This record gives sequence, C-alpha cells and structure tokens, in this order.
Amino acid sequence: MRRTLAEPVSSPHLEARALAAGYGQSPIVADINLRVGEAEVVAIVGPNGAGKSTFLKAIIGVTKIFGGSITLQQREVAGLRTDEIARLGVGYIPQGDAVFPSLTVRENLELGAYQRPKETAVRMTEVLELLPELSEKLSRRAGVMSGGERTMLGIGRALMAKPTLLLLDEPSSGLAPRVVTTLWAYLDRLRASGIPMLIVEQRTKDILEIADRGYVFVNGRVVLEATANQLLHNVDLAEVFLQAGARDAQDPLVVGSPKSTSIS
Ligand SMILES: Nc1ncnc2c1ncn2[C@@H]1O[C@H](COP(=O)(O)OP(=O)(O)OP(=O)(O)O)[C@@H](O)[C@H]1O
Ligand SMILES: [Mg+2]
Repeated sequence: MRRTLAEPVSSPHLEARALAAGYGQSPIVADINLRVGEAEVVAIVGPNGAGKSTFLKAIIGVTKIFGGSITLQQREVAGLRTDEIARLGVGYIPQGDAVFPSLTVRENLELGAYQRPKETAVRMTEVLELLPELSEKLSRRAGVMSGGERTMLGIGRALMAKPTLLLLDEPSSGLAPRVVTTLWAYLDRLRASGIPMLIVEQRTKDILEIADRGYVFVNGRVVLEATANQLLHNVDLAEVFLQAGARDAQDPLVVGSPKSTSIS
C-alpha cells in the first residue's frame, strides 16, 4: 500500500496527478501523484528499473502519457512537446553523459541558451558565478574533462536556459566519492538560489540529507512519500524496496492505488 508521511505541498511548482506513462503499448509508471513546491528539493529513490527515469522523461514530454495530468504552476503540460516544456522553464539533466564531447566547455554552455541567443553573454556570467570552476576551463574540449566536471557542465548547460525547475537524473552516477561530495555542495548552492529541483538518485542517504521530501518508487508505483528526514531516520528503505518488490512479484496490482489499473 502507498503510505504518506508528509504534509501536502500547497500551490506546487510541479504536480503529477494519477500519471501513467511509458513506451509502446503499456505504461511503465502508473498512478503517480507527486508534487514539487516552490524552492523545494524533492528526491526520487528506488531500485533499478523502478521507472524513475521514465517518470522524469514523462515530465519533459519524451515518454508517452497514458493518463493523468502534469501541471507546471497550475498549467497543464502533459502532451506538450519537449521543446515547449523546455521553453516553459524546465531544465533536464539526463542520466549519464549530458555534454557534447567534441565541443568546448564554452560551446556546450552557449548551446544551453539557444532559445535565448541575445541573453547568452549575461547568462554565461550568471552561470559562471554559480559554478566558477568552469570559468577556468572554457576553451577545453568537454570530452577530455573528468566525469565530475562533465556532470557540472551538464548542470551549467541546463542553467544557461534560465530554468525555473531542474530535473536531475542520477547526477552522482559514475563519480568518485570525493567528487560526489563536491557535487552535493554544488546542489546546495543551487538550492540556496531558490530553484526547485526534482532529483533521482541511487545514493539514497546522501540525497535525503539534501532534499526536503522524498518519494520511493518501486515497480512503477510510488510506495512511500515522506519528508526526507522521516525517510532517513524512521524508515528502513532497503526493507521498503524489497517488500514492495516482493508484493509486486506476486501481484503487480497490489502496490499503489487500485485506480491505476483503470488507466490504459
Ligand atoms: N525506451 C524504452 N523502451 C521500452 N522500455 C523502456 C525504455 N526505457 C526504459 N524502459 C523500461 O522501463 C523500465 C523502467 O526503466 P527506467 O529507466 O525508468 O528505470 P529507473 O528507475 O530509472 O532505473 P535505474 O535506477 O536503473 O536508472 C525498465 O524495465 C526498462 O527496461
Ligand atoms: Mg534511471
């Protein structure tokens, strides 16, 4: 059963209601109810294959929507094209490499502002103020940067578009522990700038220390929603992953609301 241990967020920046999304003929995630408040940092955690990336891709219009709604500041966006959603202020940093390796750091950043060419110089100054480490490497080819630097560049490129919401899919993946610590410091800096963020992470404990609230995805459903603090200290997440997975294996319709079965 889905459990909720968090107070509802009033007037969210992003809200998914009863969302079902996936590929081809069938949804991978269903009955997803999730909110990100203004200036809130929200984590999505869950085992491999739970549908976390699929959900983020549904928000940016990449995966097929089978039912439900997605609103950005109360405006329905489900069914819009990816470029339209980007224009509405959604920045997305995909899982894995998010940079063009043959281009320089400067060119990668400039591409991020392609929808606002006149503002490129101003955006560049603002982004480099937030991520000053990139300013020393502007003429370097992105392909020769370290994994951590590339992650940072991917975030920088998304920031060039002046997003009002950031979606990050496993920003720490493939990074050495020391670099991960630096990444969390960057995310803290971004949080201080007030931009709401929805972050998918495998490093559950780390991300819950940064986030305000969290959602646990298992087999395409939200099985638990709580404040990050509650998820960190009052919940055995390994147990939740395992138990919800085991229930799903017996009966895929048990976890989550039965409503999800009617969405097709
Ligand atoms: N393009 C696609 N076409 C068909 N099925 C897909 C596609 N992408 C992902 N899937 C399937 O959707 C399911 C969920 O995948 P998804 O990438 O959303 O999981 P995840 O929670 O992000 O996992 P991980 O933690 O490993 O990144 C998987 O079973 C996967 O095989
Ligand atoms: Mg994923």
